[in-house]
Amino acid sequence: MCGIIGYIGKDNKAIEKTISCLEKLEYRGYDSAGIAYVFNNEIKIQKSKGRIKNLKDKLQIDTKSNCAIAHTRWATHGQANEINAHPHKVGNVTIVHNGIIENYLELKNMLIDNGYKFISDTDTEVACATLDFFYNKCNKNIIKSIDEFKKIIKGSYALGIIYDDDINNLYAIKKDSPLIIGISDESYFIASDVPALLEYTNKYIILEDNEIAKLTSDKYEIYNMEKIVDKEIKTFDFKYSTQDKGNFEHFMLKEINEQPKIVYDLLKENIDNNLEDIPSLINYDRIDIIGCGSAYHTSLVAKYIFEQQVNAEINCYVASEYRYENNFFGKNSLVIFISQSGETADTLACLRKVKKQGIDTLAIVNAQGSSIAREADKVIYIKAGQEIAVATTKAYTAQITILSLLALKLSYEKNIINNFDEIKKDIDKITEIIDGVIKNIDYETIALNIYERNDIFFIGRLVDYALALEGSLKLKEISYINSCTYPAGELKHGTISLIDDKTPVISIITDESVMDKTISNIKEIIARGAKSIIVSCIDLDDDIYDYSIKIPKINPFLQPIITIIPLQLLAYNIAYKRGCDIDKPRNLAKSVTVE
Ligand code: G6P
Repeated sequence: MCGIIGYIGKDNKAIEKTISCLEKLEYRGYDSAGIAYVFNNEIKIQKSKGRIKNLKDKLQIDTKSNCAIAHTRWATHGQANEINAHPHKVGNVTIVHNGIIENYLELKNMLIDNGYKFISDTDTEVACATLDFFYNKCNKNIIKSIDEFKKIIKGSYALGIIYDDDINNLYAIKKDSPLIIGISDESYFIASDVPALLEYTNKYIILEDNEIAKLTSDKYEIYNMEKIVDKEIKTFDFKYSTQDKGNFEHFMLKEINEQPKIVYDLLKENIDNNLEDIPSLINYDRIDIIGCGSAYHTSLVAKYIFEQQVNAEINCYVASEYRYENNFFGKNSLVIFISQSGETADTLACLRKVKKQGIDTLAIVNAQGSSIAREADKVIYIKAGQEIAVATTKAYTAQITILSLLALKLSYEKNIINNFDEIKKDIDKITEIIDGVIKNIDYETIALNIYERNDIFFIGRLVDYALALEGSLKLKEISYINSCTYPAGELKHGTISLIDDKTPVISIITDESVMDKTISNIKEIIARGAKSIIVSCIDLDDDIYDYSIKIPKINPFLQPIITIIPLQLLAYNIAYKRGCDIDKPRNLAKSVTVE
């Protein structure tokens, strides 16, 4: 993971600009941060453990500098401390790195044999020393030495590089990790993503794996095999919301509250043109969906919608497994990739693997212009706007919304439904419904009664099980409470032994076809003293719950969008009572660009 930024320009504002852009990338990791900048013809380095604000406190932001590289870290090799923080400097070379160098131990031994000494535990310091080694070996020919480096290094990387001997140039390379070049007036940037630069520019170039960028304040050159190549300058014209919490205490709460509008806009826009922009799946005999984390959970929700409502089979896979599994395809297969960031390393690797087999691919992505969006045959943007809280909420519901529209279209094409009249009525009410579920339920009281527990269980059947998985993940991510999720009938096959007096069990019941079965399971856990909390759109007898969260019943294609909201707000309120850092939970990062 990690976020990297670099800047070179004539205005001497390198520190101010890199730090400001770096703050936009903090979602990629916040274990430590650092900057290297040119000052009085020398490269100065400043690093700090923890958040970027700690680094800022150590810097004189208005110090004049025309070139800087900066980094926010999510630790892979070596603890989150100042020594392991980037930038790293070895000999003539200073770098910031995003990715993992897989052969770093082998290289480290070779470099030690050649007299290099190491002070950190990182693979990045080894990459830095390797660059320095080739720089000396190639008689200080930088482009040639970087080409040699690229030949020997294994793994993924995006690197910003500056040289003591060449402080008027900033270099950048990448392999399998994203890196773009931002183009502004008399200045250039490198960045892990385009939105980080939007304060200064929306013009950018996508750097490819085999290329080397050389940036000076008045020109840029992109090399491929030591030859300069022409690159297309792209414009990012997608509107990103400001990184501002508004009246909300946390981004997560703000993003939960954005859901009524995001969901309505997506549904309305597509239903008004009779789902013409939604791809048809009718000709596929096999549909697989791939994702990680919450994106994988949305695929499970889709599985139940497609299978229960459209009688169409869906196979769901976790990307980190699928990329190494023996994959099976039909005669006409489609593989759908779901990713908020569009940069998740495992999902991207699966996309590339599937494409190599000539299989059709469709991406459902939030971040415009991201790698997954660019590389899939077709892309549907979920239009959720930038999501800042690490725990996803609005991107998750927007992904489900798009998947539901795909299912709805297939249902129409299969003549299971003849028109969209019924669902249109629910779409017209959906803003009000979600808004009501956000505002009219007393989540705080329930949270107050369970926030001190060490374990919370979630159960549900069919689509409610898929939603329970996400509710439990939200809780674990932000409150650090251990939580297990079971298909309701499965709990008794083992971990019901963990349920003791007052263990909270959150049950989700929206599917009437299995309601009675789930109620029996709830009775089993109540008999063992559990505290029962139920999220349901059905009127239930009050002897099966301590707390009930009643949500409106709506068309089954849309019901999951409503059902997930209380689970998000329960997690939020519980984490709040525990005093957790809700927007930036420990050890997590929003964009996972390493495998
Ligand atoms: C990380 C995030 C999760 C997210 C997952 C997949 O683990 O913390 O919230 O669901 O990555 O990310 P993607 O960007 O591919 O949706």
